[in-house]
Amino acid sequence: MLKTTLLNAVQAGAAQLQHYFNGEFKISNKEGMNNLVTEADHAAEKAIIDIIQKDYPDHFILSEETGEIKTDSEYKWIIDPIDGTVNFANGIPLCCVSIGLEKDGEMILGAVYAPLLNELYFAQKGFGASLNDKKISVSSKTELIKSCLVTGFPYTYLDAPNGPLQVFEKLIRKGIPVRRLGSAAIDLCWVAAGRFDGFYEHKLQAWDSAAGFLIIEEAGGKVTDFEGNHFSPHQPHILATNGKIHDELRAVVNGGEVII
Ligand code: IPD
Ligand code: CA
Ligand code: CA
Repeated sequence: MLKTTLLNAVQAGAAQLQHYFNGEFKISNKEGMNNLVTEADHAAEKAIIDIIQKDYPDHFILSEETGEIKTDSEYKWIIDPIDGTVNFANGIPLCCVSIGLEKDGEMILGAVYAPLLNELYFAQKGFGASLNDKKISVSSKTELIKSCLVTGFPYTYLDAPNGPLQVFEKLIRKGIPVRRLGSAAIDLCWVAAGRFDGFYEHKLQAWDSAAGFLIIEEAGGKVTDFEGNHFSPHQPHILATNGKIHDELRAVVNGGEVII
């Protein structure tokens, strides 16, 4: 069963995070300053892919460190073996395994497991979202000015009008709390759990957002690109909110002012 395979896979990946966390492991650099990959990323990825391929040898896999394992299956597993690698490498427990499953281009299952926080988020299309088996839902705040937000910044600075730093500054200057946790998948799950009212980021990859965006939608939230189109993890911009502050935050991300 797909759900069982997904949960076995996130657990196997998370066991590697627990094994290596605060211990000794090799660290290397990827593109951009401080964009790291560790021995634990590779070990977690291998454990995850082994489980998926054992159960479903003909499924398509897209995984951050390995890239694509192409097949002509309608099922595509999208894997981030460690989201929050910089946190992980510094002994900060805000890191997780994130796996989404697409069928014919539609996300049908998602799981994000942060083992050092003991938080397992899960969603199935049409069946709601849960944290450690308890149903979760987004917050009920209706005004951007009273919201608590979270964002992230790309490793290589995105030099564009209304780039990440300009949007961040605009919100912070109005006194709106904007946190930066360092794990997009956890950011998304914490919107789903109602801890944050909204999240935006300018340059994510499919593996960062695949599971988390379904978890927010199933928790009653809204996820789009910056134009307001229904979100696809195969493009970089994400705006994910409780739904109620979505239009207000979208205006700011596109260069508008915060309305008081
Ligand atoms: C990163 C994290 C971070 C986000 C970056 C991602 P990684 O993923 O999700 O929060 O700001 O854009 O690349 O490298 O830790 O898997
Ligand atoms: Ca990531
Ligand atoms: Ca990663």
